[in-house]
Amino acid sequence: MSTAILYYSYSGKTKALAEAEAEKRSARLFEVKEARRYSPLGSVLCGCPAARMQKIPALLSPVPDVRRYDKVVVMAPIWAGYPAPVFNAIISSLMRGTNVDILLVSASGDSSKSKGKVLEFIEQYGLKVGAYHDIKAP
Ligand SMILES: Cc1cc2nc3c(=O)[nH]c(=O)nc-3n(C[C@H](O)[C@H](O)[C@H](O)COP(=O)(O)O)c2cc1C
Repeated sequence: MSTAILYYSYSGKTKALAEAEAEKRSARLFEVKEARRYSPLGSVLCGCPAARMQKIPALLSPVPDVRRYDKVVVMAPIWAGYPAPVFNAIISSLMRGTNVDILLVSASGDSSKSKGKVLEFIEQYGLKVGAYHDIKAP
């Protein structure tokens, strides 16, 4: 099965985990970045509300075309209980019917409070969710 990993990382932890995941799954790895990187204060004052409101931010470059892969793994850090905004941009760019696994990285290792809303968001785009896991950042 061919697998692509699309990830966003602000401070590098999700990046390291995505690299390990790519190795484990023999997957192609693609980093997705926001158009304007948040400052540390901006991540709290603007990034967190955007995450909670499930906003779709502008990206530095379009999400890579992953239509030829059987499975797409989406990885992102948790901000204010929700996936960081770039996660929403990734999800909204994928073709309907894409098989996705969701891996969310956080300090607590628990994003269960937002899971219902996140699944609703993903459903809007007609994606098929396989795994949905929290990872506690090392
Ligand atoms: C703006 C911001 C908000 C965060 N909010 C949460 C949170 O609500 N719950 C949590 O467990 N961790 C939270 N964290 C911690 C990150 O989810 C955690 O450090 C993650 O591993 C960072 O991944 P990264 O290094 O790939 O950016 C937050 C971090 C930042 C920068």
